[in-house]
Amino acid sequence: MKYLQIKRVNSLNGQIKISGAKNASLPLIAMTILAKNSVSIKNLPHVADINTLLKLLSNLGASFDRDSNPDITTVDTTTLHDTKANYEIVKTMRASILVLGPILARFGHCEVSLPGGCAIGQRPVDLHLKALEQMGAHIDIKAGYIEATAPNGLKGCEIIFDKITVTGTANIVMAAALADGITTITNAAREPEVVQLCEILNASGVNIDGIGTAILTIHGTSGKLINIDEFSVIPDRIEAGTYLCAGAISRSEVTLTDVEPKHLGAVISKLEEMGSSFTMTEDTITIHPSETINAVKIVTQEYPAFPTDMQAQFMAVATQANGTSIIEEKLFENRFMHVSELQRMGADISLNGHTATITGGTKLSGTDVMATDLRASSALVLAGLIADGVTDVHRIYHLDRGYDALEVKLQNVGADIVRLSE
Ligand code: EPZ
Repeated sequence: MKYLQIKRVNSLNGQIKISGAKNASLPLIAMTILAKNSVSIKNLPHVADINTLLKLLSNLGASFDRDSNPDITTVDTTTLHDTKANYEIVKTMRASILVLGPILARFGHCEVSLPGGCAIGQRPVDLHLKALEQMGAHIDIKAGYIEATAPNGLKGCEIIFDKITVTGTANIVMAAALADGITTITNAAREPEVVQLCEILNASGVNIDGIGTAILTIHGTSGKLINIDEFSVIPDRIEAGTYLCAGAISRSEVTLTDVEPKHLGAVISKLEEMGSSFTMTEDTITIHPSETINAVKIVTQEYPAFPTDMQAQFMAVATQANGTSIIEEKLFENRFMHVSELQRMGADISLNGHTATITGGTKLSGTDVMATDLRASSALVLAGLIADGVTDVHRIYHLDRGYDALEVKLQNVGADIVRLSE
């Protein structure tokens, strides 16, 4: 097993190129199931979750090519013939649920293993299934599998999501794309990743109104597959926010390139509250950190509010703040597993239900820590950048799910971080 070894450095300096967004790439790869052509995707990040989904599609008979041109991945689902996504793959990545909507819409049947919970929470998919049933699907849960059929195809209808769900919105948008008639989704997710999916479908002949709002109207093609032109995945706003936090916690000026500042409004605003200032252009962000970090109150909510995927990283920064910060996690029931690892490094954090109280100004000491989930992993790396001594972050297979060459990017701005084998 690999681990990351991090040693404290005085400061970081230089540029970090942001990769394509993992959470945009996953629905966009699933979207190729709706295509009648081989689809070319630019800026797909090299992370484990993307490889997992591509492998899942190839197990179903599709093919993909990431080797001919490192900047372009082609995905050809015209040869897709199987509609059962097996447990072995789905258990490693719950976002596999994203193939349910498109496969069901295209073939009229689909079996996907129930994703099961994950470290950060139970993460049910009841809203996905309820919406598909409203569109005419028949859903059975048998032996841990979702068995969905729609022999007469899916019918457009009015869907109202009880909760805002990112992959739920993406799944239903893709199902509605091939449905008969018009589907409206009320209380739709507005994350940039959902917006890009809608924009590309719209450009491919699936007329979608309300893109970027909480009410989407999708005009289905009545089963006709679509032609999808080459597109480039939007930058990863969570990767970008993570490196901004690296600048803030280490009091370093770093510049992010190939980034989309407008996707980071809440994150930048919170870092400004903590004392940093920023220089931005259309596709770059430079953080000018303050020596003193102000304590803050953070509540995680759906986009465009403060993202839950940045909660752990900000907690690491808050351990160095001047004063006491409060972080309330409102989306997931168990997204504080980084707390005990940060406490082992000397952080002064107390938990009360979904609220963490972080007493700042503590000196962190390097030690062996264990990654528990994707974003917790990056929080431990951030803490390691400023901890005294050596920090070894173990189980970094969590990190590799969603960060493209993290240690290389940090090495390039002067961090003392290496990937070693246990
Ligand atoms: C997406 O997960 C992201 N993953 C997550 O990022 C992110 O944390 C999350 O959205 C929230 O922003 C991908 O896009 C691949 P949800 P998703 O459905 O879609 C509840 C990362 O670190 N819910 O928006 O699975 C659910 O339990 C990952 O990159 C239901 O109750 O999240 C949660 O409390 C982690 N029933 C809330 O809604 C459902 O059917 C939001 O979940 C669906 C969701």
